[in-house]
Amino acid sequence: MPATLRTRVAIVGAGPAGLLLAALLRRDGIDSIVVDTRSREEIERTIRAGILEQGTVDVLRDLGGTRVDTVGHRHDGIELRWDGVGHRIDFAGLVGRGVWLYPQHEVLIDLVAALLADGADLRFGTTALGVDGAESGEPVLRARDAGGEPVEIRADVVVGADGSRSVVRGAVTGSATGGHFREYPFAWFGILCEAPPSAPELIYSTSERGFALISQRSPSVQRMYLQCEPELDPEAMSEREVWDELQARVGGGLHEGPIFQRDVLRFRSFVAHALRRGRAFLVGDAAHTVPPTGAKGMNLAVADVVVLHRAIAAFCADGSEAAFDDYQATVSRRIWKAQHFSWWMTQMLHAAPDASEFDERRRIGELESIAASPAGSAYLAEAYTGWPLEPPA
Ligand code: PHB
Repeated sequence: MPATLRTRVAIVGAGPAGLLLAALLRRDGIDSIVVDTRSREEIERTIRAGILEQGTVDVLRDLGGTRVDTVGHRHDGIELRWDGVGHRIDFAGLVGRGVWLYPQHEVLIDLVAALLADGADLRFGTTALGVDGAESGEPVLRARDAGGEPVEIRADVVVGADGSRSVVRGAVTGSATGGHFREYPFAWFGILCEAPPSAPELIYSTSERGFALISQRSPSVQRMYLQCEPELDPEAMSEREVWDELQARVGGGLHEGPIFQRDVLRFRSFVAHALRRGRAFLVGDAAHTVPPTGAKGMNLAVADVVVLHRAIAAFCADGSEAAFDDYQATVSRRIWKAQHFSWWMTQMLHAAPDASEFDERRRIGELESIAASPAGSAYLAEAYTGWPLEPPA
């Protein structure tokens, strides 16, 4: 017989979505159990996204315990570059908002520390296996604990915050993969290197050799990407070749240093067909994936969680399920806006392998229209810094 636990909210996944939800619920006095198959060390070490929208920062500050104001850096714009010439998009001047460079793993370190200090039930090394009875009043999360023993977590609500390979998704959509899907014929080869920043803000540079993004992680560690083939072996290029390619794609001027991590990011757009079934919900990457060009992934997860948190709090207060009924429609509006923005930035900044001369000249015309037009630049600034969280905070 599996051990049986009981909680109000069973959360699968200790990423930004799952941990933030647990923290927001805890502030309301609502118990949850968070399970994740990974160890705490692995979660806190994995290098992922780097950019937080204004609204995401507001949520983290409001919760308390974030180091975003001491360790993070506010950026008031980005640079779009083509033909080696930069064009700044002035977020602060255009829309009065900014973004923060504060890496995802730092967000996770803050949330885990705050939750554990507060006595929250986080179960690392516990693998979710499936959800039964999503449409009943007491869904059950089946899992295997760190010692390999079966456990059942009975809850009012089960939340899949378990990323793109979600186990909970099957119980919500009826299949592991069911959703709207788009693939792209390119990927990003990413590196982390020891070097000072090469520019005060991020540089999104398109060139005849392909796209490059110059991002940052800290005063001494930088994150950079090269557009590449999806099948590229991250070890295929020497350090010299990587630097020569990065320099060529941005028109030179980068500070170089030892490269200590390499990876390849696939480009996909995905939205699950259903985000809720009964008392089972999907948030974050379990619900949707965006290509990284718009820096939306983690921010979209936070926006889902803000909406779901309110719905769960209302349910716990008076048993009302009205906000559960609205969840999918409410979060879908923002999800599809973010899907569009991520797709738009991607197609504007990357040459497809089969692009014609017409396609390429049109694409540069698009960049010129955005950078030269206050209205075009303002659209980019508004979307990049993030639409107000919905429903209004
Ligand atoms: C990153 O720093 O990893 C990063 C920044 C901006 C993006 C994508 C990734 O659009």
